[in-house]
Amino acid sequence: MEATRAQWKSKLGFVLAASGSAIGLGNIVFFSANAYAYGAGAFYLPYLVSLFVVGIPVLVSEMALGGETRRAFPQSLGRIAGRPGELFGWWALLNAAFITMYYVTILAWVCGMLLGTLGPLWTEATALPAFGIDSLPNPVGFFFSMLSSGWVLVLVAVVWLLNAVIVRRGIATIESAVKVFVPLMWLFMGILIVRGITLPHGEEGVYLLFTPDFQIARDPGVWQGAMSQIFFSLSLGFGIMTAYGSYLPKDADHANNGIVTACLNCGFELLAGLAVFSLLFAFAIVPQASTIAMMFFVVPQGIAAMPAAVKLFGFVFFLLLLMAGLSSSISLLEAICSAVIDKFGWSRKKTLTIACGIGILGSSAFALPQVIDRGLASNGTLGLTLLDLIDHWAFSYGLLVVGLVECLIVGWLLPASRLRQMVNANSRFRLPAVFDWLLKVVIPLGLAVILATSLWGELTGTFYGTTFTLDWAGSLPVAAALFWIGSTILGAWFLTSRRGVAQPAPRLEPAEAPEVPHAS
Ligand code: PHE
Repeated sequence: MEATRAQWKSKLGFVLAASGSAIGLGNIVFFSANAYAYGAGAFYLPYLVSLFVVGIPVLVSEMALGGETRRAFPQSLGRIAGRPGELFGWWALLNAAFITMYYVTILAWVCGMLLGTLGPLWTEATALPAFGIDSLPNPVGFFFSMLSSGWVLVLVAVVWLLNAVIVRRGIATIESAVKVFVPLMWLFMGILIVRGITLPHGEEGVYLLFTPDFQIARDPGVWQGAMSQIFFSLSLGFGIMTAYGSYLPKDADHANNGIVTACLNCGFELLAGLAVFSLLFAFAIVPQASTIAMMFFVVPQGIAAMPAAVKLFGFVFFLLLLMAGLSSSISLLEAICSAVIDKFGWSRKKTLTIACGIGILGSSAFALPQVIDRGLASNGTLGLTLLDLIDHWAFSYGLLVVGLVECLIVGWLLPASRLRQMVNANSRFRLPAVFDWLLKVVIPLGLAVILATSLWGELTGTFYGTTFTLDWAGSLPVAAALFWIGSTILGAWFLTSRRGVAQPAPRLEPAEAPEVPHAS
């Protein structure tokens, strides 16, 4: 198995794929929405601290783990911590699968809006019979009319199919796709920035984004926001970087790869912040803290107010979102497929068919067009409500729990000093000894405090979503939380308890001679 594992054709291919996974909707709109929610420039301090203290060390560890064990996430953790490690790895992948399911649904909406940019998105208003509303100004009206139509279910299937096509031959087809997607993403982002900051008053948004406010760092909520943003944005806690790293040659430079990927991702994020904030300030549009609103109403509203080429810029914006999103969702599909193939030895075709089948069903749940909130006071449709509830658990809690436990496993059981030694054996940039303590103590402690504070607030204050009441589904928030935790734990237990195909023991010895040629 070791000898036949596929390998990236070049180091560039790997970096493009890893940065393609990292750069996604999270960078383009979620970052701007989060930054705005936490006071724009004020967000930078917690964001940068999270990046250097947590993001980069965890990213390098995840990549190195895959590179050294040459296995997907559950098997990698299993090699360190036995069955409990494998169980936890599957739990992480299943939590990530929930995120990917609604991520694909959002991409289906992006496809719908992309089609809308050809005309209907820019017309004055759309009637919303399903909501009993005569007309709502576009693009908000267009978005909700799309949300309440069954067509979204077709788009969900289309997006899953696109994912399957790109992942059909594993990293070989992924590498070809990201070589097209990633450069185009940078080009499109460049076009939007130039347009944004050359608009009158556009630069005021840039000032706001870069005016620091150190007071805000006292608010623990800001730290949770920044930490979740870093995890999501760098695709950490998804098992992706371990899967991608497992296709690297043994002597790959993980420290360098990790730092380059993090810089590309965060550089893109800052540039996207410039584009979005300048656009909004040029047209005096109030940004919104809600990421969905930012993506589907606020930015398109800004584009609609441009003096010329509205359709073109709108098309570029949604195409950018689609490409950035696809290069992220394929990475999770690959993380799941490689874990299943590593364990059960199934063919890629069978694995992909089952994964996409389940994916289509899951994403369809988040696209359910049934209107449950006619007045649009909160979410509108059942699908969007479910998305909101699951996102709260899988994103704000799930990813951080994965980060916490993986740092404990790698930090104490491998332990961290061994990982550092292995990375430094092939690295131009030597990880300092403080890396061990970050992984062992600082990161787990920080994440534990954040998680405990939020959970405490949740249990003693208002349980998330319970203010949202429906006569027939008043307990939907509780049911969604139970479904998320129950299905991920049971699923992980099921996958761990199955017997896999025999695997040779991995070699984690630090002083191993490289037996495969360098990728670069
Ligand atoms: N890093 C991605 C982003 O910023 C998040 C993501 C990764 C989502 C993998 C789904 C799957 O958008």
